[in-house]
Amino acid sequence: MLKSFSEDRPFIDITKVTKVYPPDIIALQNVSLSVDLGEILFLTGMSGAGKTTLLKLICCMETPNKGLIDVGGYDLSKISASQIQSLRQQIGVVYQDFKILPRQTVFQNIAMPMEVCFTNVKDIRKRVDQLLESIKLTHKRDTVAGKLSRGEQQRVAIARAASNSPALILADEPTGNLDAEISEEIMKLFTELNAAGSTVIIATHDESIYRNTEHRRIELEHGLFSRQTQKKQLSLTGLMS
Ligand SMILES: Nc1ncnc2c1ncn2[C@@H]1O[C@H](COP(=O)(O)OP(=O)(O)OP(=O)(O)O)[C@@H](O)[C@H]1O
Ligand SMILES: [Mg+2]
Repeated sequence: MLKSFSEDRPFIDITKVTKVYPPDIIALQNVSLSVDLGEILFLTGMSGAGKTTLLKLICCMETPNKGLIDVGGYDLSKISASQIQSLRQQIGVVYQDFKILPRQTVFQNIAMPMEVCFTNVKDIRKRVDQLLESIKLTHKRDTVAGKLSRGEQQRVAIARAASNSPALILADEPTGNLDAEISEEIMKLFTELNAAGSTVIIATHDESIYRNTEHRRIELEHGLFSRQTQKKQLSLTGLMS
């Protein structure tokens, strides 16, 4: 749980946010969205719709041109450098391009977020072994990550994002290189992480992982929310007319 967060407000509150990349590429237009603590939310939409941009704004990798973003009680327009660091330690990100460390072993990659938080060695080993089992890569524990297939690297990236049991997991196309059976295992892992307390946002093209879901799905189209499915009432504006 984030320190300054009080549970009577949305965990993530995005209000009228616009993001324009130079010179004039409008990635998001006046979007508003609330995400509750403990939700699993799917963000879908065609390539270029703005999914990655929205995730980057939530984890402070990009800043909006207009609008407000509040994450776990932090107003990102006013957040200090040290608060960004502490917020980031509580967000596990699965990057679309993985960002694994190719010269480090699978174990070292997955252990990294826990080492940053000074978790003790015994707990790190236990957690990494548990995650390796979930992603079916126990046999690659000591392999240098650069030698793995793309699908295997993707699974390492997912385990790394999850290792610290973060308050929030942002997963950008987490099943893009995985076959159906492994994708199912990965979704099971996200569900377990969610049950253990992580709020999870998944940006995806992969219809198979959200087709039968009971969770909320928001579709982006050219930087606007074009469609939503919802399990419950949600606060959402910026819909295309
Ligand atoms: N760093 C950047 N500089 C300039 N334009 C960018 C940058 N990042 C994204 N864009 C543009 O912003 C728009 C939204 O991109 P974004 O990566 O958020 O889409 P996406 O929905 O994640 O797409 P994909 O499904 O292909 O990953 C696109 O038009 C993209 O070309
Ligand atoms: Mg993307």
